[in-house]
Amino acid sequence: MRRVAVLASGRGSNLGALLAAQADYSSYRVTLAVTNIEGCGAIGLAREASVEAVCVPSRGVDRETHERAIVALLASRSIEVVCLAGYMRRLTPAFIDSLQRPILNIHPSMLPAFPGMHAQKQALEAGVRWSGATVHFVDAGLDTGPIILQEPVPVAHDDTEETLSSRILDMEHRIYPKALDIVARGAFAIQGRTVKLLT
Ligand code: GAR
Repeated sequence: MRRVAVLASGRGSNLGALLAAQADYSSYRVTLAVTNIEGCGAIGLAREASVEAVCVPSRGVDRETHERAIVALLASRSIEVVCLAGYMRRLTPAFIDSLQRPILNIHPSMLPAFPGMHAQKQALEAGVRWSGATVHFVDAGLDTGPIILQEPVPVAHDDTEETLSSRILDMEHRIYPKALDIVARGAFAIQGRTVKLLT
């Protein structure tokens, strides 16, 4: 069973989904929640679930010092897989290299479409008929790493950013635990940019 840390900066609904689903999977347990934002929803949610929650504040701290503190924290808790779940701080290539553990991220679009901030607004502005949710490995680019799972979500003609975001969020909550289970079981092989799923 892999020990998982979830890094989150906001309300933490994806953290909640990973916690809720872990009863269905013997492959992973979320044993640590880390945030950079004091008092965010994710921290409260982790504590309610009796999961250790630690705030490593980023405000006024240089990036290198902040990331070094997180690397040390993850090592001290023997974390094996890291999940970003609404962690609104770009990780440096040095952090990603030094971690030497799989890092997953959830993004509210069908990557490579609409990377970065406000993906749902970008989708509406582009007039696409479909958007979706993607779980991918984190690399040094912005939402560019190899895709583990993604599922489409239809865009309705009268969607607002809020309604589309809410429908995509439901899909995020469904695919993130599945993708984490695949990674925790080691049921994948990366060939170039393609993640082959094994059974
Ligand atoms: C989610 O929609 C997630 O996909 C998005 O932030 C939200 C966090 O919600 N992440 C990104 O846009 C990353 N580029 P949550 O705090 O309720 O899990």
